[in-house]
Amino acid sequence: MIRFFLTLCVGCLLWAAVPIQAEYADVVINRRAEKEGMRPVIFPHWFHRIRFQCRVCHYELGFKMRAGSNDVTMNDIADGKFCGACHNNDIAWGPDRCDLCHSGKKGLASGIMGGHETNGPGIF
Ligand code: HEC
Ligand code: HEC
Ligand code: HEC
Repeated sequence: MIRFFLTLCVGCLLWAAVPIQAEYADVVINRRAEKEGMRPVIFPHWFHRIRFQCRVCHYELGFKMRAGSNDVTMNDIADGKFCGACHNNDIAWGPDRCDLCHSGKKGLASGIMGGHETNGPGIF
């Protein structure tokens, strides 16, 4: 039991020492959304990257590896680019499910938020 708590504690310290990284967190994407009257997008990075290889998004789909650096429009998504490569009612639910992506609170700036397994949309 004691050993368990010690392990847990060391884990905490290590975790606290590691800066928040996109791989383990959510990304707020709000270059365009709020200006166009939609809530910011929450992209649960952790949730996706345990299912797909980095290469799929950061090479094949062309997502640049810097939060807030990608210029994504709904036309792109409807055309099957960026999020729309999967969110097409085939690989995953489709672009009609606005609230599942546009789930951020108003005023959130683009960037990394949260930590390990923050469980995706709706919590900010
Ligand atoms: C699969 C995720 C996803 C879904 C579903 C989704 N969006 Fe988006 N949307 C995005 C992303 C990512 C952006 C880019 C956000 C930014 O840069 O601010 C965006 C941007 C926008 C923008 C601003 C850019 C533009 O194209 O005008 C509007 C308006 C918008 N979405 C409306 C909608 C509406 C309305 C729906 C539902 C019919 C919807 N979105 C569904 C991910 C999604
Ligand atoms: C399902 C698609 C997807 C997968 C898979 C994915 N990423 Fe990402 N990644 C994104 C998106 C989208 C962003 C945010 C881009 C933006 O805000 O414009 C991002 C952002 C990032 C960032 C930027 C962080 C920052 O501080 O600005 C890094 C680094 C990153 N990803 C690394 C990785 C690594 C490493 C992997 C594999 C372990 C991976 N990604 C897998 C889609 C993905
Ligand atoms: C490589 C494929 C792929 C790409 C690209 C992708 N997604 Fe997903 N996404 C998925 C899959 C698969 C699921 C799980 C769907 C399900 O559970 O039915 C998912 C689920 C989600 C969820 C729900 C997470 C949860 O906790 O249930 C959100 C929100 C989401 N995606 C947003 C986005 C946004 C925003 C983008 C673009 C920035 C994006 N996704 C790009 C494949 C992708």
